[in-house]
Amino acid sequence: MQTVALISQKGGTGKSTIATHLAVCAERDRKRVAVFDIDPQASAYKWS
Ligand SMILES: Nc1ncnc2c1ncn2[C@@H]1O[C@H](COP(=O)(O)OP(=O)(O)OP(=O)(O)O)[C@@H](O)[C@H]1O
Ligand SMILES: [Mg+2]
Repeated sequence: MQTVALISQKGGTGKSTIATHLAVCAERDRKRVAVFDIDPQASAYKWS
C-alpha cells in the first residue's frame, strides 16, 4: 500500500484538487483508492 500526503498551509494551493485528480488516475490504473479528507471544509468529500 502506498500513502500520498499533499501538505501545505490552508488557503487554496490546490491540495484537494490534486488529491482528487490523483485518485481518479489511480482508479483508472485499476488501483484501489481511498481518499481521507479531514478538513471541515470537506471539498474532496463533496466532490466524491
Ligand atoms: N492547477 C490549477 N490550475 C488552476 N486552478 C486550480 C489548480 N488547482 C486548483 N485550482 C483551483 O484553486 C482553488 C483552490 O483549490 P483547492 O480547493 O484544491 O485548494 P486547497 O489547497 O485544497 O485549499 P484549502 O487549503 O482551502 O483546502 C479551486 O478553485 C481550484 O479549482
Ligand atoms: Mg482543500
